[in-house]
Amino acid sequence: MRSHYCGGINETHIDQDVTLCGWVHRRRDHGGVIFLDLRDRDGIAQVVFDPDTEASFALAERVRSEFVLQVKGRVRRRPAGTENNNMPTGQVEVLGKELVILNAAATPPFPLDEYVDVGEDVRLRYRFVDLRRPEMLNRLRFRSRVTNYIRNFLDSQGFLDIETPILTRATPEGARDYLVPSRTHPGSFFALPQSPQLFKQLLMVSGVDRYYQVAKCFRDEDLRADRQPEFTQVDVECSFIDENTLTGIMEQMIRELFHDLLEVELPVFPRMTYAEAMHRYGSDKPDLRIPLELVDVEDLVADCGFKVFAGPASDSKGRVAALLLPNGGELTRKQIDDYTKFVGIYGAKGLAYIKVNDIEKGAEGLQSPIVKFLGDEVAMAIMNRLGAKNGDLVFFGADSIKVVNESLGALRIKLGHDLKLLEKEWAPLWVVDFPMFEDDDKGGLTAIHHPFTAPSCTPEELEQAPEKALSRAYDMVLNGTELGGGSIRIHDEKMQETVFRILGIGEEEARAKFGFLLDALKFGCPPHGGLAFGLDRLIMLMTGAQSIRDVIAFPKTQTATCLMTQAPGEVDEKALRELHIRLRKPATEQAQS
Ligand code: AMO
Ligand code: AMP
Repeated sequence: MRSHYCGGINETHIDQDVTLCGWVHRRRDHGGVIFLDLRDRDGIAQVVFDPDTEASFALAERVRSEFVLQVKGRVRRRPAGTENNNMPTGQVEVLGKELVILNAAATPPFPLDEYVDVGEDVRLRYRFVDLRRPEMLNRLRFRSRVTNYIRNFLDSQGFLDIETPILTRATPEGARDYLVPSRTHPGSFFALPQSPQLFKQLLMVSGVDRYYQVAKCFRDEDLRADRQPEFTQVDVECSFIDENTLTGIMEQMIRELFHDLLEVELPVFPRMTYAEAMHRYGSDKPDLRIPLELVDVEDLVADCGFKVFAGPASDSKGRVAALLLPNGGELTRKQIDDYTKFVGIYGAKGLAYIKVNDIEKGAEGLQSPIVKFLGDEVAMAIMNRLGAKNGDLVFFGADSIKVVNESLGALRIKLGHDLKLLEKEWAPLWVVDFPMFEDDDKGGLTAIHHPFTAPSCTPEELEQAPEKALSRAYDMVLNGTELGGGSIRIHDEKMQETVFRILGIGEEEARAKFGFLLDALKFGCPPHGGLAFGLDRLIMLMTGAQSIRDVIAFPKTQTATCLMTQAPGEVDEKALRELHIRLRKPATEQAQS
């Protein structure tokens, strides 16, 4: 139906006849001449109809925004003075000869020919219109280029693209499962995969050697700006490989991707242990664009008179850390109060601070509500450790390790952005040497990565001191976002059973849930490992999108619904009956009846 895309018309087409198809972006009536901006995937072309072409002119008068047209005409140079240098097609226009209205359109829910602030609800409800906006379409186009690039890269490295089931059993990655009732097996449910983890490991047992998949994953968890209930992983697994080779291939892929698609030279990714990341940045995904660091001061305050500090300093589960903000003395009282409220979100009970007015004067030159409690000597010892200078400000966090890391870690990022302290545009790294387990808050342990991750010790050592064991897991972090994570896996049945036991998964339960995996480990499982990238997050970072929803064609809302299709929806009684499901009354109704 068309000879060219609208956005592709330029001076090389002058005097040629072209046929364009697209949507009416804008229509202007200039006293006897009608200008139509015709838009398609590639851009906008200006089409002019004059009254000489009577029939087409009459039709052109009838068209409105977003009508779908086919236009035949001849490309010509725009008259001098009417060029638009902001448009790729701005030197030319099409003198329209024939016009076909392929379809009319109702008035769009929001205008597309000018920038207006439209609520996200409306955009999501009319997503098919929203996606017509060039910035949305460009992100989808970019996403397609990235997936293509990654596929080509992995293919060139000998990875096979293999699909794994969507209707499956629970694949534990730490979130709730989405369940699908079985009609043929009353009372039984499939789970949608939280990741293809177990299947990709089984493919290694099968001898596939190198696998990848651009895989949909489903997790019923609390949503945030960079999380969706249904998202996409670039999922990878390799046999006969160690962590250095695997992370090397993955790093090469990301660096080449950034080079070829964004012309960005990422540095060689530094490696940082989990312990160092938590210690210096309060986070296992540190944003290294921001120069601020947490510094421990427990030893200096353990015996001081200030209970707020001395308490956590002498508690093995406590932490007292300082965060030096160069030139932070300029912060107003109101700003400090706002930051105090901000750390409250993470459970901090306050945000003590010291302003350095004149360090030469010793404690006299420090301005703070807490110096009198700390004592002059302690206050100055802290200043020395931090290397504080006149005009600086020091924040403090004193609480459980978790609260201090989370609150000062988040404050560090917020200060970095608020005060524009970012030192570079891109800061990638690998975080390694994660602990195997963490407290599950119920007196037991839970796997930090997943239960199939290999520890860097023997089963005996693991059993003896599980809370001390490190894993062979690694995360790729970029600008404070966890872009991907993976590990070398357990390939030994005994080790896998030990890990299940430590996690409180009894023999029977392990058999029932993961019997197939334990069997597979018996039948010649090679050493193997892998990693999965969050594709949506990668695209978000590469395009600078603020929300994960802006890089997904049809995303879900924060409450995991689709405003366009109104999913999830109710189903009729007959369908429920077939699925052997009887609904409980919602709690409120139950209370009333
Ligand atoms: P993990 O759970 O770390 O590892 O997930 C891998 C990557 O997927 C992305 N991601 C998400 N993106 C959007 N929305 C979500 N809800 C979401 N959850 C995770 C993150 C994360 O780094 N099977 C293992 C991988 C492996 O061991 O090979 C796994 O799924 O970017
Ligand atoms: P208070 O003695 O509670 O008035 O606190 C004195 C100062 O210490 C105030 O600036 C508080 O914001 C701060 N503060 C209180 N609790 C903590 C805490 N757990 N960590 C850091 N600062 C705190």
